[in-house]
Amino acid sequence: MTAAITIALPKGRVLRAVAPLLARAGVDATVLLADDRTLVREDASSAVRFILLKPDDVPTYVEYGAADLGVCGRDVLIERPCDVYQPLDLRVGRCRMVVAGVVGRSPPTGVPRVATKYPRCTSEHFARRGVQAEIVSVQGSVELAPIVGLSDLIVDLVETGATLAQNGLEEREQVARISSLLVANRAAYKLRQARIRPLVEALRAAVEAQGG
Ligand code: PRP
Repeated sequence: MTAAITIALPKGRVLRAVAPLLARAGVDATVLLADDRTLVREDASSAVRFILLKPDDVPTYVEYGAADLGVCGRDVLIERPCDVYQPLDLRVGRCRMVVAGVVGRSPPTGVPRVATKYPRCTSEHFARRGVQAEIVSVQGSVELAPIVGLSDLIVDLVETGATLAQNGLEEREQVARISSLLVANRAAYKLRQARIRPLVEALRAAVEAQGG
């Protein structure tokens, strides 16, 4: 029997959106719904192996060939470009990368300090606008930074807007529109095309069927 196709998936909310898409593409994704801490999961036929990762790590596993395919947010790829093929926008995990600040507080007169998990995207955004900015890198709970005076602004992802609203923040500018992309290891995409291409096409059809 040929080796399983390995698909790297991000743990968390995108996983819950990708599982039904995989199911619609004919991939048995029931193992993804198990609420346990197993990091490697195989479907019943052993044709597909899923590995579950921190979202930022998905392109790394795919680029190095530890996974044939992966799902990752466009935010991850624009922040840290990787040499992976990007055959398909899965149109799930949709959100926006925005600049936000404290509600009603006017922008600082000097150089704004901006906290973010996305230093590269942030510096490119402010450079495009001709605005000098000091960037502070943080790893999570970014919304906290302007509340406690670490920064004037943040650049982060917004999906429903609930996190901004509940922390007294408001959107100021959009940086980028984000969705989840299917990525593929370049060598695997050629060498294992008999297995991988039908799966990509089935996913493409599933994305079309889901609309939006
Ligand atoms: C993301 C993002 C925001 C939040 C936005 O964080 O960084 O904090 O979701 O979602 P909302 O607009 O629907 O409220 P995530 O939950 O991934 O955790 P993190 O803070 O650890 O990045």
